[in-house]
Amino acid sequence: MRDALDSGAPGAVAAGRADDALTDDEAAIARRLGVTGLSRREFLALMSAAGLGATGAGALLAGDAAAAAPTGAAPANAVPVTLRVNGASHALQLDPRTTLLDALREHLALTGTKKGCDHGQCGACTVIVDGERRLSCLTLAAQVDGEAVTTIEGLADGDRLHPMQAAFVEHDGFQCGYCTPGQICSAVALLSEIERGDASHVTADVSRKVTELTDAEVRERMSGNICRCGAYPKIVAAIQDVHSGGAPRPLTWRYVGQDELLALNLPATGGAA
Ligand code: FES
Ligand code: FES
Repeated sequence: MRDALDSGAPGAVAAGRADDALTDDEAAIARRLGVTGLSRREFLALMSAAGLGATGAGALLAGDAAAAAPTGAAPANAVPVTLRVNGASHALQLDPRTTLLDALREHLALTGTKKGCDHGQCGACTVIVDGERRLSCLTLAAQVDGEAVTTIEGLADGDRLHPMQAAFVEHDGFQCGYCTPGQICSAVALLSEIERGDASHVTADVSRKVTELTDAEVRERMSGNICRCGAYPKIVAAIQDVHSGGAPRPLTWRYVGQDELLALNLPATGGAA
């Protein structure tokens, strides 16, 4: 039986060992589940197989079996939240601690919005709320009750891509694509910020509206969106392309010539020692 538990087989319950005792709380949860004689290791394996983490176990301990269920019924502490996403209204009953990111992904099955760090550091979860960029992992769903939320799924017009989506495709502004929904939502809202005259940290004259979207402006304004694949030059080009309406832009880089390379006097690399 222990082998069965070690292999993660659900429902496997065995007699326990005295040297691995449950805490009082765990024993209470085990009694509520109707199982006895478990070692602590077996108890944790059972919780894991049942899909119950600390929250679910805590709810069981509080006598709230419905709230502990991985899916299905609303928790006992649910609050009504109306999410307006991509033009559709959804009346939900959510634990007040539910983030907008989890509400989108787990309750509305809108998985285009990605969970990267879940700590507000990568930008993968960026959505647009009433025209502003918002990190959905740091936003409670209840905070945006009734506000207009736009996710990556809501940008295209039927089969026609949003111009920013088309520009990302045209410029190869992604590799693995995991950061891309957040990058695109961020870029779309960035253009609105430029349009209404918002200055950034690198704007030279904050009394004037930014008309030229330089590399530095884009990099600064997109600095909250991390791309582990390093597609940054292409992302910058895509955003500038949409901002300028496809006008040619000066190259900000060039290949170095052989003479310039030799002049740098770089140490030789490669080859066997
Ligand atoms: S998942 Fe939200 S910032 Fe990383
Ligand atoms: S395209 Fe892979 S993380 Fe950005």
